[in-house]
Amino acid sequence: MTLSQNSEYFAGESLNVDRIRRDFPELSVKVNGNRLVYLDSAATSQKPMQVIRAVDEFYSRYNANIHRGVYKIAEEATAAYTESKEKVARLINANGIEEIVYVRNATEAINLVALGWAAHNISKGDHILISEMEHHSNIVPWIILSNRAGAVLDYVEIDKSTGLLDDNSLHENLEKSPKLVAITQASNVLGTINDVKQIAKLAHKRGAKVLVDAAQSVPHMKVDVRDIDSDFFAFSGHKMLAPTGIGVLHAKAEILDRMEPVFGGGDMIKSVEYHSYTPNDLPWKFEAGTANIEGGIGLGAAVDYLNMLGMDRIRRHEMEITKYALERLQDVSNVTVYGPSLDMLESRVGVVSFSLDDVHPHDVATIFDRDGVAIRAGHHCAMPLVTKVIGKPALSRMSFYMYNGNDDVDAAVKAIGEVKKIFRIK
Ligand SMILES: Cc1ncc(COP(=O)(O)O)c(C=O)c1O
Repeated sequence: MTLSQNSEYFAGESLNVDRIRRDFPELSVKVNGNRLVYLDSAATSQKPMQVIRAVDEFYSRYNANIHRGVYKIAEEATAAYTESKEKVARLINANGIEEIVYVRNATEAINLVALGWAAHNISKGDHILISEMEHHSNIVPWIILSNRAGAVLDYVEIDKSTGLLDDNSLHENLEKSPKLVAITQASNVLGTINDVKQIAKLAHKRGAKVLVDAAQSVPHMKVDVRDIDSDFFAFSGHKMLAPTGIGVLHAKAEILDRMEPVFGGGDMIKSVEYHSYTPNDLPWKFEAGTANIEGGIGLGAAVDYLNMLGMDRIRRHEMEITKYALERLQDVSNVTVYGPSLDMLESRVGVVSFSLDDVHPHDVATIFDRDGVAIRAGHHCAMPLVTKVIGKPALSRMSFYMYNGNDDVDAAVKAIGEVKKIFRIK
């Protein structure tokens, strides 16, 4: 079932945040007597009733294992799971569901590429190119792999003045003809949007395969894997309104065809003998054992919800809030904001990391929490970026989604005032 566009969700070209909030039960929870101001969607998003209901309906009406039962409810469950892949394929403009592998999250998707593709195609002395703004999920698998294979791990540097990737560093590193270029489409710390289409074009010219970490982009903007021409594309359902435990690896069918399965077991085979097996068709060859059926169904409902609002509208809405946040923070003394500046709004997603004088971000977040304002504090799973490039032990971060409004930014700015009062900062 697809939700049709419903006018009550819109105010002219903008989103009607009040109406949207009513779909998210957790947003009416009180925290310390205050409205929950949820500014941590880059960690995980809240879930609308439409997703919660889809999962509930599966368990209450047609719970059964998929791809094996021949009875009605099993067929219904299989159809719903498969339909969710069709929705995901359309959302990212994949060629079809054979390119959509369900995993637990973006991290598992990247590890699947490391173990299933890179382990067989990267050897001693080969180069792997990532960037200084990657999440640990797109660093650690490549450290493990390069240690094992004897490969060299290179980093595209960040231009500290803009928060963008340094073009010269990219070109210099591509000269080494890496076997794989693995880059995030949007940074979870700086908010920077990288031009992954252009990077893929340059990388392909040097013969590299390209992996895009799309964990922070797919939930917030229209993406098109065919236009980007990525070979691998990884993202998580839980950051885009879906339940936890479901994520996606998109890969070109011709690559998946040649790629080794990483996990063996039921469902990923066509036939098994005592000393051999024939793998199943794509994408099932990569999904061993009973799938996260509720997660898949929930992800399908999440995609319906995103489509109902429209990815372009969601992106515009988040840009407006980000602009408002950057403007307001400009006027607050002793606050340093990281990432592309206000005049480069197009180059950032709705992620605003900041530091407040020398106050530890954990103190900042704890004082915010008293007002019901939930922000992230810490190294944001990007320790090399935060500690080495930015040079802070930790940062505070607000991140936005379709249910946030300028009132949430106002609540955060007010909470900054309280932190300042407590720490006697001007
Ligand atoms: C840019 C980026 N990549 C990868 C991940 C990993 O996502 P998950 O923990 O869902 O696997 C995150 C999570 O915050 C992220 O922000």
